Amino acid sequence: MIIIRKVAELLDFVEHQKEQGNAIGLVPTMGALHAGHLSLVERAVSENPCVIASVFVNPTQFNNPTDLATYPRKEEDDFRLLAQAGVTAVFAPEVDEMYPGGPEAQPRHEFDLGTAAEVMEGKFRPGHFQGVAQVVSLLFRLCRPTRAYFGEKDFQQIAVIRNMIKTEGIDVDIVACPIKRADDGLALSSRNALLTPEQREVAPEIHKALEYSVGYAREHSVRATHDTVVERIDAVPHMKVEYFEIVDARTLLPVEEWEESPWIVGCITVYCGEVRLIDNITYKKEI
Ligand code: PAF
Repeated sequence: MIIIRKVAELLDFVEHQKEQGNAIGLVPTMGALHAGHLSLVERAVSENPCVIASVFVNPTQFNNPTDLATYPRKEEDDFRLLAQAGVTAVFAPEVDEMYPGGPEAQPRHEFDLGTAAEVMEGKFRPGHFQGVAQVVSLLFRLCRPTRAYFGEKDFQQIAVIRNMIKTEGIDVDIVACPIKRADDGLALSSRNALLTPEQREVAPEIHKALEYSVGYAREHSVRATHDTVVERIDAVPHMKVEYFEIVDARTLLPVEEWEESPWIVGCITVYCGEVRLIDNITYKKEI
């Protein structure tokens, strides 16, 4: 595996791969890799002769400076795991390499991300998806991937990126990969490393409440299902639901009746102490 730090070097590498006729699989990450990331990498390696993984903690998608400062960074471990998984190249630039002169010096480009970017994470983390679109579109332009791999834990992010490539005219297959969970059900996330032992012990309640609610939903309304999840999680020490929305999986707009859409998911964000965890569950998929 080669380690690329500079954009110019990345462009040469990509050009060489294109000349060889190689399809490129891209796995964008912010590092602190776990088995969830590695499942994306494994899939990318099985589907593309060349795989680029990026490791870049993108400052423009953080609306909370403490969140950015405390975001876990484990570059050496990340590189070892990526090499073991068979990645061809890792792109791990400094902030200045991605945003010359700093993020503020970049020409302002407002991405049209549709209504999917205005709800849930978009509402609670203003500017977050503009930052995600900025870095992901830049990575797409630099790496020219045939396929790009994202985890379904960030369900809304995938919908927003799909909108972004449409409006920006970027030709890439977005491959959505299933959530990876710890044995106790907690969705794997780099942020889990920030949980105290007490918080880590209760964090699986998020998935347990969501799973329970799938059975509950068969005999109850959308509103009652929503409320039972929020009540159950809020009753757990250390935990506070920020939002829980039961939505149409394509528009991400809330539904009021189970009959309203053939594909319905529940998306949740919970503060476990100071750590913000997200997860989701499918209630219905009839498409
Ligand atoms: O999902 C993430 O880790 C990030 O949002 C991404 C896609 C790597 C962009 O920084």
